[in-house]
Amino acid sequence: MIFLTGAAGKTGRSILRALSASGMRAKVLVRSSKQADSIRSIGDFEIVLGDLRDPSTYESNLINVDQIYYICPNIAPDELEIGKTLIKIARQFNIQRFIYHSVLHPQVEAMPHHWQKMRMEETLFTCGINFTILQPCAYMQNVLAGWKKITEEGKYIVPYSVSSRLSIVDLNDVGEAAARIISSRDFANAILELAGPEALSQSEVAAELSTVLGRSVEAIELSHAEWKHNAQQSGMDARQIEVLINMFEYYDQYGLVGNPWVLEHILNRKPTTFKQFLARILNFGEE
Ligand SMILES: NC(=O)c1ccc[n+]([C@@H]2O[C@H](COP(=O)([O-])OP(=O)(O)OC[C@H]3O[C@@H](n4cnc5c(N)ncnc54)[C@H](OP(=O)(O)O)[C@@H]3O)[C@@H](O)[C@H]2O)c1
Repeated sequence: MIFLTGAAGKTGRSILRALSASGMRAKVLVRSSKQADSIRSIGDFEIVLGDLRDPSTYESNLINVDQIYYICPNIAPDELEIGKTLIKIARQFNIQRFIYHSVLHPQVEAMPHHWQKMRMEETLFTCGINFTILQPCAYMQNVLAGWKKITEEGKYIVPYSVSSRLSIVDLNDVGEAAARIISSRDFANAILELAGPEALSQSEVAAELSTVLGRSVEAIELSHAEWKHNAQQSGMDARQIEVLINMFEYYDQYGLVGNPWVLEHILNRKPTTFKQFLARILNFGEE
C-alpha cells in the first residue's frame, strides 16, 4: 500500500486518476473534509485527514504501508524539514521505498525552491531506504491559469522572456508515469527526469495556441515589477514572490530544457505534445 501526500493538489489528483485507472489502491493525505470530498469521485482510496507538518499524521496512518510518495506544496519554505521528518518516521515503520516528487534541474542554486529539492534528494541518498525521485519539468497545465485572457483577448502573458524555452510536460503523463513507478520494482534508487517532447519558446506556445484555437494569440512578456505588484495585490507572501522572481530571472536567461527519453521509456509511448494536450483540453475540458 502507498501513502501519498498532497493528494488533493494538482499533482496529487493526476496521480490518483492514473492509479484509479490501473485499479491500484492508496492511502492519501488531504487537509480538510472539503478536499476529501473533492477527490472521492476519482476512485476508491483510503482518505486520511491531517497536517503534513504534524508527525502524528503519519504515525497513526503508516501501518500496512510499504511506500511513501512525498508531494510537498509548491514553494513551501520547509520542504526539506518536512521531508526529513517523514524519512525519520518512514524508517521507524520499515517503509520499503520513499518516492519523492522533485523538479527538473534541482541542482540550480539560483532557484531556491529547486535547490531545496536538491537538498531533499541528497538526504534520500543517505537515509538507508530505497528511493525513487521524479523530476518533472513545468506542467503544460500551467498555461491554463491564463486561459480566459488567451481565449477572450488573444494574450498569452508570461513573466519572463517570450524566447525562453521550457520542455513543458503534460501532467497526465507525469501522473501515468508515477502510477507505473509505484506499481513496479524496476525503479529502485532511480532519478527520473520527466520532460515534455519539445522545448517550446513562449512565442511558439502562443503560435500553437493560435493554430488550435483558430484565433490570433500573442505571447506578451510581463515585467517582473508588474508581476510583483500584481502578486502583492493578490496577497502572495513576500518569500514566495522573491523565489518566483528568482525563477523568472533564471528562465529569462536559460529557460528549463530537458530530454523526453526517460518519460518515453516509462510510458512505453511518445510523451504528449503541446498540440495534443490542447486538443484534449478543447475536446474534454480541464481534468
Ligand atoms: N506546477 C508545476 O509546474 C510543477 C512542476 C514540477 C514539479 N512541481 C512540484 O510538484 C509539487 C506539487 O505541486 P502542485 O502544484 O501539485 O501543488 P498543489 O496543487 O498546491 O498541491 C499541494 C496540496 O497539498 C495541500 N497542503 C498544503 N499544505 C498542507 C499541509 N500543511 N498539510 C496537508 N496538506 C497540505 C494543499 O492544500 P491547499 O490547497 O489547501 O493548500 C494541496 O492540496 C510541488 O513540490 C512542486 O514544486 C510542480
